[in-house]
Amino acid sequence: MEKYVIEGGRRLAGSVALQSAKNSVLPLLAASILTEERVTIRDAPNISDVACMAQILRELGANVRFSGGNVTIDSADACCHEIPSSLTRELRSSVFMLGSLLSRFGRALIAYPGGCDIGLRPIDLHLSALKRLGVGISERDGFIFCECARMKGAEILLDFPSVGATENILLAAVKAEGRTVVTGAAKEPEIVDLQNFLNAMGAKVAGAGTDVIEVEGVKALHGAAFRPMKDRIEAGTFLFAAAACGGEVEVEGVRPENIRLLLHKLRENGCKIHAKNDKIRIESGGRLKCNRRIETMPFPGFPTDLQAQATALNASCAGCALIVENLFETRFKYVPELQKMGADIEVKGRTAFVRGVERLHGACVTAGDLRGGAALVIAALGAEGVTEVLDLSHIDRGYADFRTKLKKLGASIRRVGV
Ligand code: EPZ
Repeated sequence: MEKYVIEGGRRLAGSVALQSAKNSVLPLLAASILTEERVTIRDAPNISDVACMAQILRELGANVRFSGGNVTIDSADACCHEIPSSLTRELRSSVFMLGSLLSRFGRALIAYPGGCDIGLRPIDLHLSALKRLGVGISERDGFIFCECARMKGAEILLDFPSVGATENILLAAVKAEGRTVVTGAAKEPEIVDLQNFLNAMGAKVAGAGTDVIEVEGVKALHGAAFRPMKDRIEAGTFLFAAAACGGEVEVEGVRPENIRLLLHKLRENGCKIHAKNDKIRIESGGRLKCNRRIETMPFPGFPTDLQAQATALNASCAGCALIVENLFETRFKYVPELQKMGADIEVKGRTAFVRGVERLHGACVTAGDLRGGAALVIAALGAEGVTEVLDLSHIDRGYADFRTKLKKLGASIRRVGV
């Protein structure tokens, strides 16, 4: 196991080269088996979730190669419709492989992904949508078996804008017979990326980014090369780090409207934000003010994937903040680690009551999930003294070269064996 050793108190300055969006690249990889022709995804981030998804594709019989930052998938020889349970457990979001497997093979067998450290993460919306497309589903001993020789387009109403369920429906519907209309769809920008990728493969998808998406089924899809969007959650994480340490940091490649509420909240803290086209610069100095209230919501609301980072920043701002997590049941598990650093936070159900302290102090803390781990790093960068952050495997799931990028901005951060 490895840990970060971080000496807090350094100002950050410079620009960050953002990775491609983890939450776009994962569904794109799932979509790659919708054709037997070659698919290339450019600038795939070097993160373990991508490596895990690549392993899943190899288990299906696809040939997956990483070279020069790109990942190339040749799935002509893919023939297996089953995903090993060890991989489904490791990558919960592999559930949207159901749509791809059904499109490609007419059947799919996966272990029930189950819950994780941020919540139960049921998949009822995925399964009821696939049933609407004519898929027969049976569940036994923790496994889900889906079968349908040729799916038929349907009207699907999602009573919650689930990102994964929306993506699964698109992956299933692009080669179904006839038209599918998804109402109540998730509007995240990563779904627009998936639509653009599918259309580059010859699909007919329209409306992504709104709550109504229409798909005209086509007989076959062809290969494509595609550059995914930049990671807006990584961008937000670095903006929070700059706010916590003080300094001037620029991120490029993310459209301000894709993190609009985040920028509004950082201005509320007292940071200066300059946003022009896809360049966003933050200037932060002196003691910031707490946000009165942050509520996570589906896009375009405040992203749940930046909730932990916002709490870490507010922990040492002046005043009090109310952080409400509306998307996942247990997404405050990082709070006890912040309390070890002197944070004054009380969690009741889905709400964290934060009383800002003058400054956090260094401690030995352990990451328990991806975004909670990033939050601990943000807290450590702004804290007095040295902090050790253990169990970096969670952070490695979603942040490529995290230490190198922070070091380039001036942070004192080392990665050492435990
Ligand atoms: C995606 O997860 C992201 N993951 C998550 O990012 C992100 O937090 C989430 O969307 C919300 O934006 C990927 O894109 C790989 P959901 P997903 O389905 O698809 C409930 C990160 O840190 N729900 O929109 O799993 C669910 O329990 C990760 O990068 C059902 O009840 O999210 C949750 O409470 C974490 N039934 C809420 O909806 C279902 O069938 C949001 O889930 C599906 C979901």
